[in-house]
Amino acid sequence: MLETEGKPISCRAAVAWENGKPLVVETVEVNPPSTGEVRIKMVAAGVCHSDLTYFNGGYANAVFPCIIGHEGAGIVESIGEGVTSVKPGDHVVVSYITNCGECTYCRYPKTNLCCRMDELETGIMLDGTTRLKSKGRQLYHYYGVSTFGEYSVVPEIGVIKIAESMPLDRACLIGCCVSTGYGATLNTVKVEAGSKVAVWGLGGVGLSVVMGCKAAGAARIIGIDIKAEKFDVAKDLGCTECLNPNDHAKPIQQVLKVMTDGGLDYTFECIGHAETMEAAFESSHLAWGTTVIIGIGTKRDLTLNPWKLLSGRTVKGSKVGGSVAKELFPRLCEEYLAGRLNLDKLITHRMSLDEINKAFDVMRAGESIRSVILFEVDRALQRLTEVEPDFQCTKRGWKM
Ligand SMILES: NC(=O)c1ccc[n+]([C@@H]2O[C@H](COP(=O)([O-])OP(=O)(O)OC[C@H]3O[C@@H](n4cnc5c(N)ncnc54)[C@H](O)[C@@H]3O)[C@@H](O)[C@H]2O)c1
Ligand SMILES: [Zn+2]
Ligand SMILES: [Zn+2]
Repeated sequence: MLETEGKPISCRAAVAWENGKPLVVETVEVNPPSTGEVRIKMVAAGVCHSDLTYFNGGYANAVFPCIIGHEGAGIVESIGEGVTSVKPGDHVVVSYITNCGECTYCRYPKTNLCCRMDELETGIMLDGTTRLKSKGRQLYHYYGVSTFGEYSVVPEIGVIKIAESMPLDRACLIGCCVSTGYGATLNTVKVEAGSKVAVWGLGGVGLSVVMGCKAAGAARIIGIDIKAEKFDVAKDLGCTECLNPNDHAKPIQQVLKVMTDGGLDYTFECIGHAETMEAAFESSHLAWGTTVIIGIGTKRDLTLNPWKLLSGRTVKGSKVGGSVAKELFPRLCEEYLAGRLNLDKLITHRMSLDEINKAFDVMRAGESIRSVILFEVDRALQRLTEVEPDFQCTKRGWKM
């Protein structure tokens, strides 16, 4: 039995005390897991744009103070009563899309959502209490996962065991970014070989869409971003062409219609702006084009002329790519280990927990694809050096 089992653990975590304020690294107390819960020692956590949106007023239901972060991979430290799918020492990725297997959503085959996730959205665990405390105050959880801390307590229905051979700094990306983008091409729509697609936003999510489209055999994959610096990686991962809307006098939808002889089979919006969602819809082919809305945080509603839908176009929303975590996460790990899924290219920055606000700065500036917070820089350094000698290590962080 571990020394820490059954006791609170004092560790470090980035706390979002207030809406709109930078995160603060604090000492936090993480209580032991209750029935049906798992305490995890986090090894790596990816920084997603949804985290930035959450603590900057983009979610109506945001609760503070809380520990955010939802892309995490680590090692099980201890388990609560009744937990059977994982044991201490197992390597895991967390999933904020839970899968209880029993609720109305879980029993309906056409969705990946789970009613328990709606309960966890309140920031409180399923038994109505929290496991996190700092400076004498209770902290809310973030959808039951809270990955920006050295330890977290997560409901078992949001914990997925993965192979130990999977490097955890890459595994964490599977928790949201890759399942969202890649999953959308498998589940929300089924991109067919020969399809013409366009992807708005070449961050971690958009590039995962690109990889999914490439794996599906899409004939043309057009990447769209206002940061041309993203284009080389985008082409490496599967884009056949890249466009910067700022280089064109005409709206991008008009440019695309001409380029593609009438429009695209599938368009994916991975930014979160109403304007780009509308452009994605306008670029889809009359009669059969489908637009997938992935981006979060629109400041206004969409303007959509129903006449333009009548021909047979579709607009669909997609949460974590319509993916059921326990099915897709292990499969994506296998794809990575077999060399068929390039997660390495998605990581542009590796940082320590103390640098977490820098991760949001580079994201805001459009300079990163994914930043990954490494909780154990020394160990990770050793492992990464073994796997990829090309990485350069700066004193405080990592850069490729
Ligand atoms: N639906 C889901 O389940 C889900 C899951 C994860 C993330 N998301 C959302 O997906 C979006 C992308 O997430 P990410 O982490 O990849 O973000 P990111 O910030 O890493 O990438 C966004 C990209 O969009 C580009 N961009 C910004 N404005 C643009 C514009 N006007 N035109 C063209 N390109 C523009 C940026 O340069 C950047 O490359 C966010 O809105 C995020 O909240 C949704
Ligand atoms: Zn459920
Ligand atoms: Zn995310």
